[in-house]
Amino acid sequence: MAFNKLTLDDVDLKGKRVLTRVDFNVPLTPEGEVADDTRLRATLPTVKKIIESGGRAILMSHLGRPKGEWKPEYSLKPIATAFGKLLGKKVEFIDDCLGEKVKSAVTEMRDGDCLLLENLRFYPGEEKNDMQMAKELAELGDIYVNDAFGTAHRAHASTAGVPSIIQPAVAGYLMKKELDYLGNAIANPKKPFVAVLGGAKISGKIDVINNLMSKVDRILIGGGMTYTFFKALGYKIGASLLEEGRLEMAKDILDKAKSSGCEFILPIDSIIAPNLDCRKDEIKVAIAEEIPDGWIGADIGPKTIDLFEEKLDDAKTVVWNGPMGIFEKELFANGTIKIASKLADITDKGAITIIGGGDSAAAVKEFGFTDRVTHISTGGGASLNFLEGKALPGVEALTDK
Ligand code: 3PG
Repeated sequence: MAFNKLTLDDVDLKGKRVLTRVDFNVPLTPEGEVADDTRLRATLPTVKKIIESGGRAILMSHLGRPKGEWKPEYSLKPIATAFGKLLGKKVEFIDDCLGEKVKSAVTEMRDGDCLLLENLRFYPGEEKNDMQMAKELAELGDIYVNDAFGTAHRAHASTAGVPSIIQPAVAGYLMKKELDYLGNAIANPKKPFVAVLGGAKISGKIDVINNLMSKVDRILIGGGMTYTFFKALGYKIGASLLEEGRLEMAKDILDKAKSSGCEFILPIDSIIAPNLDCRKDEIKVAIAEEIPDGWIGADIGPKTIDLFEEKLDDAKTVVWNGPMGIFEKELFANGTIKIASKLADITDKGAITIIGGGDSAAAVKEFGFTDRVTHISTGGGASLNFLEGKALPGVEALTDK
């Protein structure tokens, strides 16, 4: 899929006010320190390019969901300091994103300067894509850059409104990189192409399963959604997670899978527990059909791990979204670790492995495989929307090539 939007390389940045939407929505510690700076690092190439080309980088982002109210715990101030350290240059912070203070700070900028505005979501207009707010933001820039892949699925004032006013509106390097990896995996996959889909609920993955079924050779299913499929097949699922209202949907997917030509592979066994806070000696393995009453399926079992490893062995392209079990708990992390490790091994053998953001990205990082997979997306919701085949408003709004 050729990327058909202008990028940072298509514009002259020298002396320009470059209004840049970034996704600095990063986790903070209770003390207000940046707990994971992946998204900050991922944005460095774009910001470096702007300032090294003599542009004036005006960065804007959201942090958390303050719902249109000023909440100090969602201030971007600590992020300006953290990003400045990574950039090796002072990043000026302005404690607002609209108004006279912001305008004069922008006027005082010199070529090569970098400035970060306060949280856009302190104003209700951001999430409403309010055009008055978009207009005021747009007055700050000559060129608009969107590098916030993680927020590309949101049609907000800073992602949709502003680029409808400022032209050219171009993609930053992170945005382009994410779309290249995800786009190529979907449009030109080397085969066999395998999707590994996990996570708690079918409702969150239904559109991905439907969209990928016609594109991939195999879909491997894990995580909590497994048990709604098991129930749909008439298996005993004990006290495992069940989305009662999605049983028909699960049956439809199973039927569709039969006629689709895509192998749809469910776990054949599970790690089960009497409760999720139990001891190691209390967990056991159950075959897929027979989870005893009161027991909870919490991870894929050893035979499933062998089966999934076998199904991944010859894969040339893999997209992974969603953990295989409750990996936040050590007792139920094994399935997710084994899949991450298998993806690392096949990447070493030349496969392209793409990890959707969110929980699967967190798992790959936590278990130490970050440098052994091809690409880890910085966008959870955005990569999911992309895999569902949906248009991303933040990308649609950019200027066509
Ligand atoms: C994310 O972390 O997924 C993005 O920053 C988008 O955040 P949101 O889900 O609050 O819009």
